[in-house]
Amino acid sequence: MRLLVLGGTRFLGRHVAVAALERGHDVATFTRGVSGEPPEGARALRGDRNDPAALATALDGWQPELVVDTSCQTRAAADNAAAALDGVGGSALRGYAFVSSLNAYRDWPPGPIGREDDEPTWDTADDDYGPIKAYAERTLAAVLGDRFLTARAGLIVGPYDPLYRLGWWLDRVARGGRVVVPDARGQPMAMVDARDLATWLVDMAEQGRSGAVNATGSAGMTTLGEVLDLCRDVTGGDAEWVAVAEEELLAAGVQPWVHLPFWLPAGDARTAWDVDTTRARELGLPSRPLHDSVADTWAWQRVSDRPDVPPGRDLPGLPPEVERQLLAAR
Ligand SMILES: NC(=O)c1ccc[n+]([C@@H]2O[C@H](COP(=O)([O-])OP(=O)(O)OC[C@H]3O[C@@H](n4cnc5c(N)ncnc54)[C@H](OP(=O)(O)O)[C@@H]3O)[C@@H](O)[C@H]2O)c1
Repeated sequence: MRLLVLGGTRFLGRHVAVAALERGHDVATFTRGVSGEPPEGARALRGDRNDPAALATALDGWQPELVVDTSCQTRAAADNAAAALDGVGGSALRGYAFVSSLNAYRDWPPGPIGREDDEPTWDTADDDYGPIKAYAERTLAAVLGDRFLTARAGLIVGPYDPLYRLGWWLDRVARGGRVVVPDARGQPMAMVDARDLATWLVDMAEQGRSGAVNATGSAGMTTLGEVLDLCRDVTGGDAEWVAVAEEELLAAGVQPWVHLPFWLPAGDARTAWDVDTTRARELGLPSRPLHDSVADTWAWQRVSDRPDVPPGRDLPGLPPEVERQLLAAR
């Protein structure tokens, strides 16, 4: 079938394009051409989603039957996709899988998040990430009806990840020696491998599934400590964990999630990782062994230009001077 990836050249979208090509679909990606080229075999359509005319012009009569949308970050992007696909490809379109975020929920973070239909999403007009995703869901669902599925993704990991969260831990742990870690190694975590999410998004579009899905791993599938141990296993480093209490980290100016990726203060962590994924499991969202996600990310990272953090985002990681100060105190 003709499958359009909105996005498709960077991380999740790239894996979607690969998965769709492997299924034998006729794949096109739609991007500005800033973040590179799509995988071989996909046709590269060019344009800016924020330009109302761009998508219809780029499609030039090519009517997608399936769409996987990984690149929606503005209200205009949602409006324009809805208008273009309603007008140009609406009749041919059988399934549209949209990548949203748990941030679409008004109460996340810190959650907890129960079944999808029981939790309110944002309905405010502010230009923040969560409200924009919630607006995009509503706008596209209004046009596409029961052909529209929204995947509210949690933490996504895997090769080609530009956000350098797992990547930072891998690099730091690989350097070895005494490594500052939060004294919260039992903190539960959940995540989804981009390749698992990508294949499943193609499935969902093919099957014309609809509704909202909390698209992440099962609550309690792993812990921060297990992720760190896996980083040490796959990098082969001699890292020695130096556990630092939450109060001391915060007093030293360590920013949760940003300076120590994946770490949240205990009060938030208790509920933020507690997301009901019953529907994702019912719909077959796979979850490969975490070891494979960590090992494959490390293998990719060793041969890639990194970190390749998108414009406007800060590089995560603990500032070296803060780490020195925390280590000197013990
Ligand atoms: N990473 C996480 O943990 C996480 C968690 C929850 C949800 N999400 C969501 O998951 C999705 C993952 O994104 P990804 O980066 O992996 O997807 P991707 O499709 O691999 O990369 C983003 C694509 O968007 C294109 N793009 C950016 N701005 C554009 C514009 N104005 N017009 C047209 N194309 C544009 C980029 O190409 P050009 O730059 O060349 O235009 C790039 O191909 C996002 O929607 C994100 O909100 C991520």
